[in-house]
Amino acid sequence: MDIDETIKGRRSIRKYQNRKIPDSVIKNLLGLATYAPSSMNGQPWHFMVVRAEETKKQLVQIKNKYCPAEKQMYQADFLQRASVIIVVCVDKQNSYDREVENGVLATANLMLGAYSRGLGSVYLSAYRNGEPAISDEIRKALGIPEHLHPITIVPLGYPDEIPEPKMIRALEDMISYETFGRK
Ligand SMILES: Cc1cc2nc3c(=O)[nH]c(=O)nc-3n(C[C@H](O)[C@H](O)[C@H](O)COP(=O)(O)O)c2cc1C
Repeated sequence: MDIDETIKGRRSIRKYQNRKIPDSVIKNLLGLATYAPSSMNGQPWHFMVVRAEETKKQLVQIKNKYCPAEKQMYQADFLQRASVIIVVCVDKQNSYDREVENGVLATANLMLGAYSRGLGSVYLSAYRNGEPAISDEIRKALGIPEHLHPITIVPLGYPDEIPEPKMIRALEDMISYETFGRK
């Protein structure tokens, strides 16, 4: 699959077949994630690979507990049925004040790599500014040490749904040439 096809074809998948993703595939995807750019080339990543049903359940509970009122329709129960959940963490010490960016870029690689291999994924945040309890609880559930910051939660599985086509905003509305508003 070429890169354009991969970028355009990736969609959030929240229903998964009851089929295990082999460890070798996961390892391969995490390898791709490490080719992401990182601030000062710090490569601060640590990937938690979660397969245990009980741990998945804890992640569901944490995400649902902190789900804001306006997002109640986006409950995280579907995480339970993922073949594997990756929690992308970054080491504060090698992040050069760019924990979030470092974590998110690796996550993008991971998700695009997953799609190009026929796997479905979704991006979920593992932190919220001003609400450290979310990351703390995730850290506690997974035994993650204090210096690592959980940034994203990415369930992976063989897709069991075809999402509705997505409208993409007109490109021209999102571009200015030289000065703002110049088309
Ligand atoms: C920062 C961020 C947070 C997101 N949080 C959630 C979430 O909590 N639950 C969820 O199901 N999807 C979440 N998503 C996925 C978006 O809903 C999804 O990417 C968006 O609707 C576009 O659809 P697509 O991924 O199929 O292109 C999140 C995506 C981003 C970028």
